[in-house]
Amino acid sequence: MPIDSLGKAGMGDSLRATVVAYVPANPQEAAAIAAGDALFKSNCAQCHAVNEKVVGPALAGITKRRSINWIIPWVHNSAKVIASGDEYAVRLYGDYSKQQMPAFPNLTDQNIKNIVAFVSAQEGSSATDSAPALAVQ
Ligand code: HEC
Repeated sequence: MPIDSLGKAGMGDSLRATVVAYVPANPQEAAAIAAGDALFKSNCAQCHAVNEKVVGPALAGITKRRSINWIIPWVHNSAKVIASGDEYAVRLYGDYSKQQMPAFPNLTDQNIKNIVAFVSAQEGSSATDSAPALAVQ
């Protein structure tokens, strides 16, 4: 965890606080992000962080790399996506020493969208700046 960023008190602080605190556009979005936060912690956080590589890749920017139509089947069963010959999946699997991510057949499409909403809300902020709940894991 990059704690050094906490040491720089000064003019940047108030600005940074407003920049990193993502404000949901409406109560539905806030609820989706909160649901995604809980799902992420119970299913994904052992291997993933939003902004740092852990066992698996940092998930920040995932919606720019992959469409939701790729992410959903991947989370449901990544082995199946790899076996289908999907070029990105095969390369990623190779890059991560063929470490298989578990399948999550019980997560609904909406569950996965909520996780993605949570990831998007956390992007670009270091864990110590804006997500104390994540920083303690
Ligand atoms: C046991 C470890 C583990 C768990 C738990 C896990 N993953 Fe993964 N994940 C990986 C690994 C390793 C990769 C890299 C690809 C590979 O090796 O198959 C990956 C890749 C990914 C990718 C592609 C990332 C990219 O940059 O293209 C996404 C999206 C993803 N995981 C989402 C999730 C979500 C959402 C959850 C929770 C529901 C989750 N993962 C749970 C290990 C895990």
